[in-house]
Amino acid sequence: MNALTSQPVDRLEGAVRVPGDKSISHRALMIAAIAVGETVIGGLLEGEDVMATAAALAALGVASHRDDDGRWHVSGVGIGGLAEPDRVLDLGNSGTSARLLMGLLASHPHTSFLTGDASLCRRPMARVAEPIERMGAAVLARSGCRLPLALTGASDPIPIAYELPVPSAQVKSAVLLAGLNTPGETTVVETRPSRDHTELMLRAFGADIRIDETASGGREIVLTGQPELEARAVAVPGDPSSAAFPGVAALVVPGSEVTVQGIGLNPSRTGLLKTLSEMGARIDIAETGSGPGERLGDVTFRAGSLQGVDVPAARAPTMIDEYPILAVAASCAEGTTRMHGLAELRVKESDRLAAIADGLQACGVDARIDGDSLIVEGSGGRPPGGGRIASRLDHRIAMAFLVMGLAARQPVAIDDGAVIDTSFPGFVQSMNGLGAAIAPTGDAG
Ligand code: S3P
Repeated sequence: MNALTSQPVDRLEGAVRVPGDKSISHRALMIAAIAVGETVIGGLLEGEDVMATAAALAALGVASHRDDDGRWHVSGVGIGGLAEPDRVLDLGNSGTSARLLMGLLASHPHTSFLTGDASLCRRPMARVAEPIERMGAAVLARSGCRLPLALTGASDPIPIAYELPVPSAQVKSAVLLAGLNTPGETTVVETRPSRDHTELMLRAFGADIRIDETASGGREIVLTGQPELEARAVAVPGDPSSAAFPGVAALVVPGSEVTVQGIGLNPSRTGLLKTLSEMGARIDIAETGSGPGERLGDVTFRAGSLQGVDVPAARAPTMIDEYPILAVAASCAEGTTRMHGLAELRVKESDRLAAIADGLQACGVDARIDGDSLIVEGSGGRPPGGGRIASRLDHRIAMAFLVMGLAARQPVAIDDGAVIDTSFPGFVQSMNGLGAAIAPTGDAG
């Protein structure tokens, strides 16, 4: 469990790197697994979610190892080459592992059993089961199509054209990964573009993938099945979703200046930076290069006053994991912030909409849910704080409220800091290195 408390601090200062991007790390391991040859991955996130993917791939017959310099070497088995696992695949807390693996397994003609922790076993899997069943896979799950489930892949998979009913990169990626071992063209249409790491990485590994804008501002992605993917080097950028925590902390703790180095700047992930800029945040972005199709750079965050804004629903896919920390920024701003189109937050690692609103209220902030919108009344400076927050098996809730404690008038405690290792191992040390005061509850102060 590992309860943690964060104390109000005077300022944060310095430069920091955050661990590798979680989304790109999962995809690097999975796509390397079905390429031909050895892929070497630098900067892989070694958080629990990505390690769950690595363990599942090992059970599917993919050999990998970490060298002394921290690079991961993955020996690909080729498209269609994954073996039937002789044990249950336990994906822990990781929705990305479960959903993308379901896609990969959908076009392998054998049976796998998938499970996860209490949080993952509550999350909906029908959104992936439905398209892969159309491709010929069979999914047997308990009520609500939740884990644990059994999946038998198709022996003669059928390509489909699929319009996503929810704006989800995980579902898009599952269908594309299923399409890799499927003859013909698999098409995915998304009305609101979501993160495109799968598309960029498949292209970098040599897949034939076409991406067109639709008339209504969405995207159509067409993948030609059964390509030969060629192993290549991958450099994973720092995770912008992790960078959001020290970044927002620097904006809301008066007098702070923090640079987060080497983070991914893929436009499908930069919705938070756009929103914070609209709030008047002082943010400088220095683009420094690109990985396999991915942009990256250093971002400097300087404290200053923030104004409440309306965040449109159309932006949600580009900052879907950042609402907990945006809500903390909103509670320090002047005026009201309204965040719209948040239905998907109800099916994340926790019901994040409820977790954010309850946590803010416990910290003395006026916050309410109105349909799929979250409305936060800013305190125009340090919010009261003083809350004791349930992490709810949700790493981002835990980190967001620890940041709240740094910026508030009273300390904030979370009941379970162990969940942070899901995506940001070393979070407490990194934050404290910048001047934060986060410590096990009881040791604090
Ligand atoms: C992810 C996509 C998002 C995000 C998750 C990672 C991915 O989920 O919340 O943390 O790697 O594709 P959805 O695609 O379900 O919105």
